This record gives sequence, C-alpha cells and structure tokens, in this order.
Amino acid sequence: MKMIFLGAPGAGKGTQAEIVSAKLGIPAISTGAIIREAIKAGTETGLAAKKFTDAGALVPDEVVIGIIKERLAKADCAKGFILDGFPRTVPQAEALDKMGVKMDLVLSLEVADEAIVERMSGRRVCDKCGASYHVAFNPSEDGVNCDKCKTPLSIRRDDAPEVVKSRLNVYHETTEPLKDFYAEKGILKLVQGCEKVEDTTKSTLAALNVSEE
Ligand code: AP5
Repeated sequence: MKMIFLGAPGAGKGTQAEIVSAKLGIPAISTGAIIREAIKAGTETGLAAKKFTDAGALVPDEVVIGIIKERLAKADCAKGFILDGFPRTVPQAEALDKMGVKMDLVLSLEVADEAIVERMSGRRVCDKCGASYHVAFNPSEDGVNCDKCKTPLSIRRDDAPEVVKSRLNVYHETTEPLKDFYAEKGILKLVQGCEKVEDTTKSTLAALNVSEE
C-alpha cells in the first residue's frame, strides 16, 4: 500500500506514520527527517536546506523531489510506503505522478491551529534516532531521555513559536490545496487528529481498513 500522510506541522503525521509503519512492515519516509539528517551531516543538500527549515519555509521543490526519487528507488519501498510530509506543494504532487508513483490513499490529519501551537511547544525529540515525544501528551519514560536509545531529548529549532507561526501559514497557503488535488482523484480521507494519540491511531487504522489486532 502506498499512502501519504498530509496535515499541518505538528498534526501527528510522524507519530501515526511510525505506528502504521511498524504495524504494516512498510517504511515511513519523512522528508523532514531526511533533511534534518542531511543538515546534521553537513552535506551539500543539508547546507542548502538549513536556511529554509530554520525560517519555517519550504525547501525548494527540486531539492525535495530529488530526495524522494532517491529514497523510493530503495528496495524496502517495493511492498509499499508511507510518505510523511511529502508532497507539500502541487508541483511536488505532480512530480510523484510523473515518476509513475500511483498512490492508493491520502490521509489528512485534521487538527486546529490552536492545538498545533500547544503540541509544538511541548515536543521533545531524539537527535540520534528521530523519536518524537511530548512533555504532557506522549512523554518518554523518564521525561528526559529517549526510550529507544537513551539519548537526552532536545527541542527542534523550528518549534520556536515564531517559526511555528510561519510553518502554519505555509501549510494553509501551499500544502492544504493538496486536499482538493487528491479529493479530485478520489483517494483523500480526512481523519480527526485532535484526539489522544491512541484514539487517533484507531481512526487512522479504520481509515486504512486495517484491523487493530
Ligand atoms: P517536517 O519534519 O515534516 O515537519 P512538519 O510537517 O512541520 O511536521 P512535524 O514533524 O513538525 O509534525 P508531525 O505532523 O509529524 O507531528 P508529530 O507526530 O511530530 O518538516 C520540517 C521542515 O522540513 C519543513 O518546515 C520544511 O522546511 C522542510 N520540508 C520537509 N518536507 C518538505 C517538503 N516536502 N517540501 C519542502 N520542504 C520540506 O507530533 C507533534 C507533537 O505532538 C509531538 O510532540 C507528538 O508527541 C505530539 N502529538 C502527536 N499526536 C498527538 C495527539 N494525537 N495528541 C497530542 N499530542 C500529539
């Protein structure tokens, strides 16, 4: 199954994509995570992307499309995949079509802007393995270190309140129109993402017709 998780920054795409990925045994591909890795490694792509992510702006289409082309060519994508955070513009969605990638389903996680701001301010991430937590809604076991690799958790640079505001504006202006793009193709499903993580997972699995067992 090839699917896209759409939604505002902080809507819970990464959280749900990881859960569904583990359940279905297909990779969750986050362009944001790939970009953060490239920035950390100091690659040419990372250096080019940093000024955009720091400002809460989108990285240019050609850069992100190149990243996705390379990632989808890997063997682990053969049985399906979840795209988390791609496409984010109509040209990116058109590029997927041109690559001959036929998506089965697009899930849009719907969360109000006010809840998004609260989520981002409490998010803590593991720089080593990429796991994501929330101080109140999804804390790590000891509240300080990653459960998976025990690395001390940190705050993402782009979770600063003024950057979150820009990211939300970009989402509404540039990414939200993709809902119409995929609704016209008949593959869009809306999922309420404002409930607790476990309840959102239930709605997500129901939208995917996957049993909870
Ligand atoms: P990216 O990393 O993709 O950021 P984003 O889309 O802004 O999404 P987030 O990762 O912030 O949130 P999420 O929806 O995954 O939520 P999460 O599950 O973490 O992209 C970063 C940057 O890279 C972009 O700004 C851009 O510059 C660049 N980029 C990436 N892709 C690009 C593209 N295609 N084109 C151009 N540029 C691109 O949850 C958030 C928090 O809420 C966590 O703390 C979590 O624990 C908590 N939480 C999750 N679910 C719930 C729930 N149900 N209830 C309560 N809390 C919850």
